[in-house]
Amino acid sequence: MNIGFVGAGKVGCSLAKLLTERGKQVSGIYSRSPSSAAWAAQFTNTTHFEEINELLDVSDVLFLTVPDQSIRSVYESLDPTKLVDKIICHCSGALSTAVFEGIEKYGASAFSIHPFVAISSRHESYQNLPHTIFTMESKPIRKEHKEAMLALLQDLDLQVEEITAESKAAYHGAAVMASNLMLGLLSVAKRELQAAGFSEQGATEAILSLAEGNLANAIKAEEKPFVTALTGPIQRGDASTVEGHLKAFSGDSREIYRLLSREVLRLAQEKNGTMDDIRLTELLYEDEEE
Ligand SMILES: NC(=O)c1ccc[n+]([C@@H]2O[C@H](COP(=O)([O-])OP(=O)(O)OC[C@H]3O[C@@H](n4cnc5c(N)ncnc54)[C@H](OP(=O)(O)O)[C@@H]3O)[C@@H](O)[C@H]2O)c1
Repeated sequence: MNIGFVGAGKVGCSLAKLLTERGKQVSGIYSRSPSSAAWAAQFTNTTHFEEINELLDVSDVLFLTVPDQSIRSVYESLDPTKLVDKIICHCSGALSTAVFEGIEKYGASAFSIHPFVAISSRHESYQNLPHTIFTMESKPIRKEHKEAMLALLQDLDLQVEEITAESKAAYHGAAVMASNLMLGLLSVAKRELQAAGFSEQGATEAILSLAEGNLANAIKAEEKPFVTALTGPIQRGDASTVEGHLKAFSGDSREIYRLLSREVLRLAQEKNGTMDDIRLTELLYEDEEE
């Protein structure tokens, strides 16, 4: 199976390098700027192409590892007569295979294969990819195509999770919650510490150290990490402390505290099925009862 790459950036170079390291056949690399493609070809010990459809010609699988906003136009620049029986992939988390509009009428299969991990370097990140999660969403024209792609990812020691095109937006939203929104939450907490009198540096250090300890506890938990690592007033059933926090905060901070506390209350109930949660439930849901 010959695998080609369009887009010699962080993801394209990392995947191409991992493939060649594992003895897979990379047919070549094309990129917007010939110098990027030439560098990537040298890095992966493969060939660079100056014409995208020449690369398509010699590839069974073509990864479009270009920025999300360019995936559609790059796909549309592929020669439809050369698409028969090909596998076309992109690596976007936000877009589904729907971006490859009409691909089935050309007799090709569409895959969206998203690394659930940050890839920050063109020449180093490939080393960290094995054992990370890759999410696959597919529209195969033949079942052999899907079998071949699953086998390929497994050969690379990647952990594959399958989702549908319809769930792609929610999937990506969940990933944003665990990465970007987690930083947003820490930033709100830091601001409240500063409002309470901390220096900016002190607030940053305190918040990062607390968050790191919590994540480490969850990671090392043998089962149910979010339940096991849970500490704090809600899991102790301490409604008066939670009431004090809600009075101390206002605006977005109060709303964020209240909404996330509802999820924490669900975790606390899982941890302790007999906890007295009547007052906590009233506090956390009171605005909805008005
Ligand atoms: N990086 C991550 O952490 C990460 C994680 C998960 C998924 N992804 C997804 O992976 C895909 C690629 O992201 P990336 O981080 O690798 O981006 P990147 O580092 O910016 O690389 C994109 C590459 O595509 C080339 N390119 C841009 N427009 C092109 C076009 N019209 N035709 C051909 N080549 C073009 C670029 O140009 P030059 O030729 O000028 O270099 C560059 O080499 C995106 O869909 C992204 O959402 C990224």
